[in-house]
Amino acid sequence: MKNLLLDIKGKIMVLTINRPNALNALNRDTLKELKEILCELEKNDQIDVIIITGSGDKAFIAGADIKEMENMTSVEAKGFALLGHEVLNRIENINKLVIASVNGFALGGGCELALACDIRFASENAKFGQPEVGLGITPGFGGTQRLPRIVGKGIALELLLSGKIINAEEAFRIGLVNKVVPNALAEAEEFAQSVISKGRFAVKQIKQLVVDGMNMDLCRALKYEAEAFALCFSTSEQKEGMSAFTEKRKPKFS
Ligand code: CAA
Repeated sequence: MKNLLLDIKGKIMVLTINRPNALNALNRDTLKELKEILCELEKNDQIDVIIITGSGDKAFIAGADIKEMENMTSVEAKGFALLGHEVLNRIENINKLVIASVNGFALGGGCELALACDIRFASENAKFGQPEVGLGITPGFGGTQRLPRIVGKGIALELLLSGKIINAEEAFRIGLVNKVVPNALAEAEEFAQSVISKGRFAVKQIKQLVVDGMNMDLCRALKYEAEAFALCFSTSEQKEGMSAFTEKRKPKFS
């Protein structure tokens, strides 16, 4: 991998976008590498949590690569957007928890990538925005769709139409990030460890229920929840979790 650093810590993989000279901007090569590693991870049963961050202390990802986009034709731009969608959809739907550890600028495609993650922790220096409108383009990696679903239509339109950059506290206030902390990576690793200590089957089901359920009507989504709830009762994790409660001890899931 030329533009990604991979670091495995037990059941956690820290995936670092590593183009510091371009503030970790997403070019085609980086997106293709991301696609490849996500395909591998989907099949990898040893990893339960993926943390995505950016190299250096200035940027998470400063957007899609403007220098690469500058001379794109419409056809090429469409291919680029579809590649971005494919990668971000994989992040959203992968059978593992994905945490964005935002350690600086998360702009344009960088903000969009963070939005596709399940949870976002921000360092105090993190900055968010969708500045595409100032470049004469619309967001192309899902920003017009995922941002309103997360922060609501009015706030999303304000950010998308102004292109303004907001700090971490403001991002927290509007619900764009879960938490603002001095060290987002440490926070992400701590949260990942606490999730790993829980029932693995239930964790995977919960992510899938929430992600899939957001695109279903409530009636269908509740049926889907009942099926998953029932399935849990055929696992050893449910037996262990509930007997640990009645025996007043901590459960041991694996
Ligand atoms: N693409 C390509 N290169 C980028 C980049 C990007 N998105 N963001 C930063 N860089 C490069 C700069 O060109 C510069 O390279 P050189 O030293 O070779 O000139 C290097 O990274 C450092 O950047 P700056 O000198 O600009 O750093 P700064 O501290 O002065 O400013 C910044 C930081 C405010 C983040 C500024 O770099 C910036 O505005 N970047 C662009 C942000 C942006 O518009 N992102 C949206 C892109 S469009 C998009 O993402 C579309 C989509 O939805 C798919």
